[in-house]
Amino acid sequence: MSGIEPNLMMRFFIAAGFTLSLSALVMAAPVQENTLLKSTEESRKVALQVSQELKSQLIREMQLSGPVRSLLVCKYTCPEILSSQSRKTGWRVVAVSLKPRNSSLGMPDAWEQKVLADFARRAAKGEREDALEFAEIVNEPQANYFRYARAMMMEPMCLPCHNSRDKMPEAVKAQLAVDYPFDKAVDFSVGQVYGILSIKRGF
Ligand code: HEC
Repeated sequence: MSGIEPNLMMRFFIAAGFTLSLSALVMAAPVQENTLLKSTEESRKVALQVSQELKSQLIREMQLSGPVRSLLVCKYTCPEILSSQSRKTGWRVVAVSLKPRNSSLGMPDAWEQKVLADFARRAAKGEREDALEFAEIVNEPQANYFRYARAMMMEPMCLPCHNSRDKMPEAVKAQLAVDYPFDKAVDFSVGQVYGILSIKRGF
């Protein structure tokens, strides 16, 4: 072999490899788009189901026994609804906020923080809860993930427990102080984005 041949061979492999990776990219685009559409639809369905279940449990308990007993729904039933959906789907399904009440369960990661800030800006411009949805495929060092978020907006029914402390029923305020000494989930008004339902899935 003369000195020039390995060099040529290498060039060929580099060129072939480049073409291959280019065509892989070209093919990957529609595949990713389909994955995104399908995963968004599936995740929206689960998020809506979780949201409806949380609200109906809360409304029922508020009507039956008032806000103090309803704290228990939020403390035990809400995390249970989320984790049972996680078990059922195999995805990570959580409710997080920039001002969480429960700092171990409600803390957002970097992606969720960005989405929460964006939703807050969009809500301030008048977008409604139903429009505040975001999905994307995220490349992390170990793997690619599909991520989905849907806004949880403050409604009148949320206020007894998420309004400013001086407007809360005394008993709620006292119980929150015992259960969540580092509570940040106060001072909200109707129409503000308090949190998101966030789904993270491998594929
Ligand atoms: C009866 C009181 C009560 C009402 C009403 C209530 N919440 Fe909460 N909320 C709580 C408590 C308590 C927690 C902490 C749950 C836990 O320990 O994981 C919480 C947690 C949350 C979280 C999870 C993040 C975090 O802060 O830990 C979100 C999101 C949330 N609430 C949104 C809402 C929305 C939206 C409404 C109205 C539709 C609402 N809440 C109504 C008491 C309430």
